[in-house]
Amino acid sequence: MYKSSPSVPRGIFASNKAAPQILRAFHGSVQEASYGLRSAFVVVHRQWATPSRAFSTAPSNRMKEFFPEPETKNIRVTEAAWPHPIYTQKQLENVIVAHREVRNRSDRFALAMVRLLRWGLDRASGYRHGKANELLKTDPAEWARRYGMTEKKYMIRNVFLESVAGVPGMVAGMLRHLHSMRRMKRDHGWIETLLEESYNERMHLLTFLKMAEPGPFMRLMVLGAQGVFFNAMFFAYLVSPRTAHRFVGYLEEEAVLTYTREIEDIDAGKLPMWANMTAPDIAVKYWNMPEGHRTMRDLLLYIRADEAKHREVNHTFGNLDQKNDPNPYVSKYINPELPHPTKGIEYLKPTGWEREEVI
Ligand SMILES: [Fe+2]
Ligand SMILES: [Fe+2]
Repeated sequence: MYKSSPSVPRGIFASNKAAPQILRAFHGSVQEASYGLRSAFVVVHRQWATPSRAFSTAPSNRMKEFFPEPETKNIRVTEAAWPHPIYTQKQLENVIVAHREVRNRSDRFALAMVRLLRWGLDRASGYRHGKANELLKTDPAEWARRYGMTEKKYMIRNVFLESVAGVPGMVAGMLRHLHSMRRMKRDHGWIETLLEESYNERMHLLTFLKMAEPGPFMRLMVLGAQGVFFNAMFFAYLVSPRTAHRFVGYLEEEAVLTYTREIEDIDAGKLPMWANMTAPDIAVKYWNMPEGHRTMRDLLLYIRADEAKHREVNHTFGNLDQKNDPNPYVSKYINPELPHPTKGIEYLKPTGWEREEVI
């Protein structure tokens, strides 16, 4: 039966009632293709190549070049418009999982929304990291087979999450841009930081897309999620920008947690394919990854640090007067020797800077 096959794609089908029928329909060919093949990615080759592939991504060795450099007569290379700040190895390793305590109703609402989203996505992507349910106690091997995270499941999660992560910064930047023009007022530097954040998130997505290509179902999910999330953020930011920034702050806490687990799983030997993988060129260039530090693990360290930065920026923005305070991340300080918000992660503050610390 489909449940006993190692080749069955779980993903979003984990919570889909129609899944067994759909799975059975192409189970035969999948089973034949999967047995005896060595790696997790190869196991799913055949089923990803079928038109009925699910919420999944294709391994890089089966992909067409996703976005090749355009060939033009006069242009040699197109650099990143926002060069990425340099992170040192020590700074990367020092990023920690953290949570900002809820302090008021707005925070509580923001956190509840993030928990709801996380719960939904966990169900959809078959993510049960470390959940001590009955099965884990009685049959750890079966639990690992069903719920244990693999490179493929993490990749699905990463691609989906990054495709929505680039939305809030763009929405917030756009609304502040329109507000500034409409009300004929200065913005005090917030817009660029917000747009840069969405640019950075899109670079995360493009990097992952160099490693895995989403199938039609995944593309549909991304399309739907973007439609819903963009509009939700749009109205939320109009009603309460402070709550919207807090929401993103909490969302980024989750992102740091997920990437930390991916790094830990590589270290624990649970993701053998990633352990031997190198980062794609696009990532090496964008993050200026030094030689000798260009593995998948290094890449996840960089991405995690970016998420930690977004966590800090959005919690800080959530603490400020939205209309009058300058953006502390682009401001010059009277005493620059003292720790203060910067574009890099030299003074990373997991729960954000309080208003009185910076303004
Ligand atoms: Fe990201
Ligand atoms: Fe992020």
